[in-house]
Amino acid sequence: MPVRTVFLLLVCFFMLGPGAATALEPFEITDLSITDAQGLPLTEAQPSQEVRIKAAYSLDRPGFVLLNGEVTGPNWIVKLGYRVFFRLSGLYSVVWNIKIPFNANGVCQVQVVEYIPLVNERVQQTAYLTVVPFDAAYVGSDVCSGCHAPMYAAWQQTLHYPYTGCESCHGPGGDHISAPSPATIIVDTSSSVCKPCHSRNDGRVIEAEDGFIKSQQQYNEWAGTKHAKFLQCAGCHNPHYSLQSAPINAIKLACSTCHLFKKRYLGMQFVACTSCHMAPAVKSIDSTGIGPYRKGDTSSHIWRIKTEAEPYHMFALDGSFAVQDGGGPFLTLNFACLSCHNGLQARFYDFISVQKTSTLVH
Ligand code: HEC
Ligand code: HEC
Ligand code: HEC
Ligand code: HEC
Ligand code: HEC
Ligand code: HEC
Ligand code: HEC
Repeated sequence: MPVRTVFLLLVCFFMLGPGAATALEPFEITDLSITDAQGLPLTEAQPSQEVRIKAAYSLDRPGFVLLNGEVTGPNWIVKLGYRVFFRLSGLYSVVWNIKIPFNANGVCQVQVVEYIPLVNERVQQTAYLTVVPFDAAYVGSDVCSGCHAPMYAAWQQTLHYPYTGCESCHGPGGDHISAPSPATIIVDTSSSVCKPCHSRNDGRVIEAEDGFIKSQQQYNEWAGTKHAKFLQCAGCHNPHYSLQSAPINAIKLACSTCHLFKKRYLGMQFVACTSCHMAPAVKSIDSTGIGPYRKGDTSSHIWRIKTEAEPYHMFALDGSFAVQDGGGPFLTLNFACLSCHNGLQARFYDFISVQKTSTLVH
């Protein structure tokens, strides 16, 4: 008998066999609790706080259980993520650790769903949590300079100066200046801090226009990439420093820290990883060149280069957004290569010749 058949028979036996006959416990979520990281019950939380959501559930027969849920606030949502288990009948629990978004506010709904596939049974449970931001006034970046002078000086060199101040990322500082300590100020390293200014629309669709990605969408571009699973903006960036005048401090992790063995051939050992993988496919103000040789004025945050794609594959037919396939968004070689191989920075090549050589770069 094929292994697959045996497996399916076993599944049927467990799902419908012994359990169905002796119903031990009802199929339900018996308890949904919200606690802080130490396990103390919570009805209120602060932005950026770590919160633990624990669902106790039971089932009356052995089988596969699928749990899922989300926390929904007035203008934000955190998906808890699927959990799949094989369980004998009995009482179990599952825990999700989440971080309340930096800009969260107000009452949010915590909802968990328990689902038994095949049998199509589903139950759900709801709880509520109120997010209360630091109740303190904004004091302005100049006040911070008194105690954080070097950081203040570095920030003055960045494009964040003067309008994106310390408190744009750290929240209001009123409590902190009257009682300076790590407990009175937010340090949030997640990309949600950057999202309000470095994204458009819902932060997913990458808006495009005129053959380029529109500006200020680093979040949208990043969100669909493989890096997004483990590298937040602040994983690569130290946003206190300027990319122009202090690049060594501004980029915490060079690409080669993780991609240790990526060699560059074709005489391009000196070409920076970012020249190809973060090619200027974004236009903030200006672009140069014509046809497939055009380049924008801002680095993209897509990284993946799809060598087999034609230039027109990168954008939707009406040109209004960048296409994302199963592997997320991608750059085409006209951006990755022709931004240099246009006879100005490097030897002139047409699209066909870079497509032929592109798989030989590494
Ligand atoms: C009166 C001095 C003083 C002022 C003014 C001040 N801070 Fe601080 N700050 C401190 C001290 C002390 C610490 C704690 C340092 C430590 O424990 O390592 C701190 C720590 C921090 C931290 C790090 C917290 C952590 O978890 O590591 C941040 C972020 C911060 N301050 C931001 C600010 C911002 C933003 C302002 C302006 C709104 C500001 N500070 C104004 C004294 C000050
Ligand atoms: C309140 C709005 C705002 C927030 C929040 C914000 N930024 Fe920015 N950021 C800007 C603006 C505006 C610019 C300048 C225009 C541009 O470069 O497109 C900028 C520029 C930058 C630059 C180029 C800076 C330079 O001097 O070279 C980097 C890097 C950057 N942001 C990273 C981040 C990261 C990382 C975060 C989150 C931790 C963040 N930003 C949060 C508004 C913001
Ligand atoms: C664009 C967002 C942004 C701005 C603007 C910003 N910070 Fe930060 N800050 C961060 C992030 C993100 C971290 C956490 C960095 C990490 O852990 O790698 C941080 C960490 C810190 C820390 C503690 C850790 C350290 O590196 O010493 C201090 C202190 C601090 N910031 C102070 C300030 C002050 C003062 C200003 C204004 C002059 C400021 N920040 C402006 C995003 C920002
Ligand atoms: C894998 C590392 C990495 C991650 C993750 C990352 N960046 Fe960057 N970012 C860079 C590098 C490297 C540059 C400089 C590119 C260059 O030199 O061409 C840059 C440049 C920028 C710039 C300036 C672009 C320009 O050309 O003016 C902004 C703004 C920015 N990043 C914001 C963000 C934001 C917001 C996020 C999170 C959504 C993010 N970055 C995530 C590596 C990263
Ligand atoms: C903290 C470690 C780390 C850093 C820093 C980092 N990467 Fe990655 N990167 C990874 C890992 C791990 C993967 C593979 C993810 C996977 O396969 O799921 C990856 C994937 C990629 C991919 C394949 C993307 C895809 O979607 O197919 C490219 C290209 C890439 N990185 C380029 C870069 C460049 C360029 C830089 C510097 C700006 C950089 N990486 C910085 C860890 C890192
Ligand atoms: C001259 C342009 C160029 C430079 C410079 C370059 N790459 Fe690439 N890279 C490519 C191209 C093109 C591909 C796709 C190759 C393919 O599909 O066969 C690629 C693929 C990759 C991949 C993904 C491979 C995969 O498994 O999908 C990673 C990771 C990567 N490069 C990292 C880097 C790092 C790190 C650097 C700097 C040390 C770098 N690259 C420099 C053009 C470049
Ligand atoms: C940052 C600019 C830059 C980018 C981006 C770039 N190249 Fe190059 N490339 C050069 C330079 C400079 C040389 C060496 C001098 C020359 O041949 O003009 C070179 C050399 C080459 C050569 C060898 C030329 C010869 O005859 O010896 C090939 C092939 C090549 N590049 C293909 C590519 C491909 C494919 C890509 C995109 C995946 C790419 N390049 C992206 C700058 C770049």
